[in-house]
Amino acid sequence: MSHLVAPSILSADFGNLQRDIELINQSEADWFHVDIMDGVFVPNISFGFPVLKSIQKHAKKPLDVHLMIVEPDKYIQAFKDVGAEVLTVHYEACTHLHRTLQHIKSLNMKAGVAINPHTPISVLEDIIIETDLVCLMSVNPGFGGQKFIENTYTKILTLKKLIQSKHAHTLIEIDGGVDLNNYQKLIHSGADVLVAGNTVFSSTNPTQTILKLKKV
Ligand code: DX5
Ligand code: ZN
Repeated sequence: MSHLVAPSILSADFGNLQRDIELINQSEADWFHVDIMDGVFVPNISFGFPVLKSIQKHAKKPLDVHLMIVEPDKYIQAFKDVGAEVLTVHYEACTHLHRTLQHIKSLNMKAGVAINPHTPISVLEDIIIETDLVCLMSVNPGFGGQKFIENTYTKILTLKKLIQSKHAHTLIEIDGGVDLNNYQKLIHSGADVLVAGNTVFSSTNPTQTILKLKKV
Protein backbone atom coordinates (compact mmCIF):
# COMPACT_ATOMS: atom_id res chain seq x y z
CA MET A 1 0.00 0.00 0.00
CA SER A 2 1.31 3.46 -0.77
CA HIS A 3 1.31 5.76 2.22
CA LEU A 4 -1.49 8.15 3.16
CA VAL A 5 -1.22 11.82 4.05
CA ALA A 6 -3.57 13.33 6.63
CA PRO A 7 -3.35 17.11 7.07
CA SER A 8 -4.21 18.17 10.60
CA ILE A 9 -7.09 20.63 10.79
CA LEU A 10 -5.65 21.93 14.09
CA SER A 11 -3.27 24.08 12.04
CA ALA A 12 -5.97 25.36 9.67
CA ASP A 13 -7.23 28.95 9.76
CA PHE A 14 -10.47 28.63 11.74
CA GLY A 15 -11.68 31.96 10.41
CA ASN A 16 -11.52 30.40 6.96
CA LEU A 17 -12.26 26.81 7.85
CA GLN A 18 -14.42 26.07 4.81
CA ARG A 19 -11.71 27.45 2.51
CA ASP A 20 -9.04 25.26 4.14
CA ILE A 21 -11.29 22.19 4.01
CA GLU A 22 -11.87 22.80 0.28
CA LEU A 23 -8.13 23.08 -0.17
CA ILE A 24 -7.70 19.60 1.31
CA ASN A 25 -10.66 18.30 -0.73
CA GLN A 26 -8.97 19.45 -3.94
CA SER A 27 -5.51 18.21 -2.94
CA GLU A 28 -3.78 14.81 -3.05
CA ALA A 29 -4.40 14.37 0.69
CA ASP A 30 -6.10 11.14 1.76
CA TRP A 31 -7.70 11.91 5.12
CA PHE A 32 -8.54 14.83 7.37
CA HIS A 33 -6.78 14.47 10.74
CA VAL A 34 -8.97 15.99 13.43
CA ASP A 35 -7.47 16.57 16.90
CA ILE A 36 -9.82 16.67 19.88
CA MET A 37 -8.24 17.96 23.11
CA ASP A 38 -10.03 18.27 26.44
CA GLY A 39 -7.63 20.30 28.58
CA VAL A 40 -7.35 17.33 30.98
CA PHE A 41 -5.56 14.55 29.12
CA VAL A 42 -3.46 17.21 27.38
CA PRO A 43 -2.70 20.80 28.45
CA ASN A 44 -4.73 22.35 25.65
CA ILE A 45 -8.33 22.55 24.41
CA SER A 46 -9.01 22.36 20.67
CA PHE A 47 -12.64 22.26 19.54
CA GLY A 48 -15.75 20.15 19.89
CA PHE A 49 -18.89 18.95 18.15
CA PRO A 50 -20.16 22.20 16.58
CA VAL A 51 -16.87 22.57 14.69
CA LEU A 52 -16.83 18.87 13.84
CA LYS A 53 -20.29 19.23 12.31
CA SER A 54 -18.97 21.97 10.01
CA ILE A 55 -16.02 19.80 9.05
CA GLN A 56 -18.39 16.89 8.34
CA LYS A 57 -20.55 19.13 6.16
CA HIS A 58 -17.72 20.20 3.86
CA ALA A 59 -15.09 17.44 3.99
CA LYS A 60 -15.11 14.97 1.09
CA LYS A 61 -12.44 12.66 2.52
CA PRO A 62 -12.46 10.37 5.57
CA LEU A 63 -12.23 12.00 8.99
CA ASP A 64 -9.42 10.53 11.08
CA VAL A 65 -10.36 11.65 14.57
CA HIS A 66 -7.67 11.63 17.27
CA LEU A 67 -9.10 11.83 20.77
CA MET A 68 -6.74 13.35 23.33
CA ILE A 69 -9.40 13.14 26.03
CA VAL A 70 -10.08 11.22 29.21
CA GLU A 71 -13.08 8.86 29.28
CA PRO A 72 -13.40 8.60 25.48
CA ASP A 73 -16.02 5.81 25.87
CA LYS A 74 -18.65 8.42 26.71
CA TYR A 75 -18.42 10.00 23.25
CA ILE A 76 -17.85 7.14 20.79
CA GLN A 77 -21.39 7.27 19.37
CA ALA A 78 -21.24 11.07 19.19
CA PHE A 79 -18.07 10.95 17.09
CA LYS A 80 -19.69 8.38 14.80
CA ASP A 81 -22.62 10.79 14.38
CA VAL A 82 -20.33 13.59 13.20
CA GLY A 83 -18.74 11.40 10.56
CA ALA A 84 -15.60 9.87 12.09
CA GLU A 85 -14.35 6.96 9.97
CA VAL A 86 -11.21 6.34 11.98
CA LEU A 87 -11.52 6.89 15.73
CA THR A 88 -8.31 6.82 17.76
CA VAL A 89 -8.15 6.76 21.54
CA HIS A 90 -5.08 7.03 23.74
CA TYR A 91 -3.71 3.90 25.38
CA GLU A 92 -2.92 6.06 28.41
CA ALA A 93 -6.57 7.16 28.71
CA CYS A 94 -8.27 3.75 28.51
CA THR A 95 -8.59 1.35 31.43
CA HIS A 96 -10.58 -1.13 29.32
CA LEU A 97 -8.94 -0.64 25.97
CA HIS A 98 -10.21 -3.90 24.49
CA ARG A 99 -13.79 -2.94 25.30
CA THR A 100 -13.29 0.53 23.86
CA LEU A 101 -11.93 -0.82 20.57
CA GLN A 102 -14.80 -3.31 20.28
CA HIS A 103 -17.27 -0.48 20.81
CA ILE A 104 -15.65 1.64 18.07
CA LYS A 105 -15.62 -1.28 15.63
CA SER A 106 -19.21 -2.22 16.41
CA LEU A 107 -20.17 1.19 14.98
CA ASN A 108 -18.28 0.46 11.75
CA MET A 109 -15.39 2.79 12.39
CA LYS A 110 -11.73 1.85 12.22
CA ALA A 111 -10.34 1.61 15.75
CA GLY A 112 -7.04 3.33 16.47
CA VAL A 113 -4.77 3.41 19.51
CA ALA A 114 -2.38 6.31 20.06
CA ILE A 115 0.64 6.07 22.35
CA ASN A 116 2.61 8.91 23.89
CA PRO A 117 6.36 9.22 23.20
CA HIS A 118 7.27 7.61 26.56
CA THR A 119 4.95 4.61 26.15
CA PRO A 120 6.73 1.47 24.87
CA ILE A 121 5.42 -0.57 21.93
CA SER A 122 5.39 -3.67 24.16
CA VAL A 123 2.15 -2.58 25.87
CA LEU A 124 0.37 -3.22 22.56
CA GLU A 125 1.33 -6.90 22.35
CA ASP A 126 -2.04 -8.25 23.47
CA ILE A 127 -4.19 -5.70 21.68
CA ILE A 128 -2.49 -5.26 18.30
CA ILE A 129 -4.66 -7.88 16.60
CA GLU A 130 -7.75 -5.84 17.54
CA THR A 131 -6.24 -2.54 16.41
CA ASP A 132 -6.79 -1.11 12.92
CA LEU A 133 -4.31 1.72 13.38
CA VAL A 134 -1.58 2.64 15.84
CA CYS A 135 -0.84 6.34 16.09
CA LEU A 136 2.73 6.85 17.27
CA MET A 137 3.00 10.28 18.86
CA SER A 138 6.24 11.78 17.64
CA VAL A 139 5.74 14.86 19.84
CA ASN A 140 4.10 15.22 23.23
CA PRO A 141 0.42 15.60 22.37
CA GLY A 142 -1.31 18.93 22.88
CA PHE A 143 0.07 21.33 20.31
CA GLY A 144 0.89 21.61 16.63
CA GLY A 145 4.23 22.84 15.36
CA GLN A 146 6.51 20.96 17.80
CA LYS A 147 9.87 19.35 17.11
CA PHE A 148 9.91 15.72 15.95
CA ILE A 149 11.23 13.17 18.48
CA GLU A 150 13.94 11.06 16.78
CA ASN A 151 13.29 7.91 18.84
CA THR A 152 10.14 7.48 16.73
CA TYR A 153 12.11 5.72 13.97
CA THR A 154 13.11 2.92 16.36
CA LYS A 155 9.51 2.65 17.55
CA ILE A 156 8.24 2.23 13.99
CA LEU A 157 10.62 -0.69 13.44
CA THR A 158 9.63 -2.34 16.72
CA LEU A 159 5.93 -1.84 15.97
CA LYS A 160 6.32 -3.23 12.44
CA LYS A 161 7.91 -6.38 13.89
CA LEU A 162 5.07 -6.77 16.39
CA ILE A 163 2.43 -6.36 13.65
CA GLN A 164 4.14 -8.97 11.47
CA SER A 165 4.69 -11.43 14.31
CA LYS A 166 0.96 -11.35 15.15
CA HIS A 167 -0.13 -11.42 11.48
CA ALA A 168 -2.08 -8.22 12.12
CA HIS A 169 -3.08 -5.66 9.46
CA THR A 170 -2.57 -2.58 11.58
CA LEU A 171 -1.67 0.73 9.95
CA ILE A 172 1.17 2.76 11.45
CA GLU A 173 0.40 6.48 11.71
CA ILE A 174 2.98 9.11 12.69
CA ASP A 175 1.68 12.24 14.38
CA GLY A 176 3.72 15.31 15.23
CA GLY A 177 6.61 17.19 13.68
CA VAL A 178 6.37 15.51 10.29
CA ASP A 179 8.05 17.71 7.69
CA LEU A 180 9.65 17.65 4.25
CA ASN A 181 13.01 16.63 5.77
CA ASN A 182 11.86 13.56 7.70
CA TYR A 183 8.86 12.18 5.82
CA GLN A 184 10.87 9.98 3.42
CA LYS A 185 12.78 8.32 6.28
CA LEU A 186 9.47 7.74 8.09
CA ILE A 187 7.97 6.00 5.07
CA HIS A 188 11.08 3.90 4.56
CA SER A 189 10.97 2.92 8.23
CA GLY A 190 7.43 1.59 7.75
CA ALA A 191 4.96 4.43 8.30
CA ASP A 192 1.62 4.05 6.50
CA VAL A 193 -0.06 7.35 7.42
CA LEU A 194 1.65 10.72 7.90
CA VAL A 195 -0.15 13.44 9.82
CA ALA A 196 1.05 16.95 9.00
CA GLY A 197 -0.32 20.16 10.46
CA ASN A 198 2.20 22.96 10.57
CA THR A 199 4.15 21.69 7.56
CA VAL A 200 1.04 21.90 5.37
CA PHE A 201 -0.77 24.95 6.65
CA SER A 202 2.25 27.18 7.33
CA SER A 203 3.68 26.61 3.88
CA THR A 204 3.17 29.19 1.14
CA ASN A 205 1.59 26.54 -1.08
CA PRO A 206 -0.21 23.88 0.99
CA THR A 207 -1.42 21.96 -2.08
CA GLN A 208 2.13 21.66 -3.35
CA THR A 209 3.40 20.64 0.09
CA ILE A 210 0.80 17.85 0.27
CA LEU A 211 1.91 16.68 -3.17
CA LYS A 212 5.52 16.58 -1.97
CA LEU A 213 4.53 14.57 1.14
CA LYS A 214 2.85 12.02 -1.16
CA LYS A 215 6.03 11.46 -3.19
CA VAL A 216 8.51 8.79 -2.16
C1 DX5 B 1 -0.59 17.02 18.47
C2 DX5 B 1 -1.63 16.59 17.48
C3 DX5 B 1 -1.14 16.58 16.09
C4 DX5 B 1 -0.77 17.94 15.56
C5 DX5 B 1 0.30 17.75 14.54
O1 DX5 B 1 -1.06 16.82 19.75
O2 DX5 B 1 -2.07 15.28 17.77
O3 DX5 B 1 -2.05 15.94 15.22
O4 DX5 B 1 -1.87 18.61 14.97
O5 DX5 B 1 0.77 18.99 14.19
P1 DX5 B 1 2.21 19.19 13.55
O6 DX5 B 1 2.24 18.42 12.26
O7 DX5 B 1 2.26 20.67 13.36
O8 DX5 B 1 3.24 18.69 14.53
ZN1 ZN C 1 -3.25 14.19 16.18
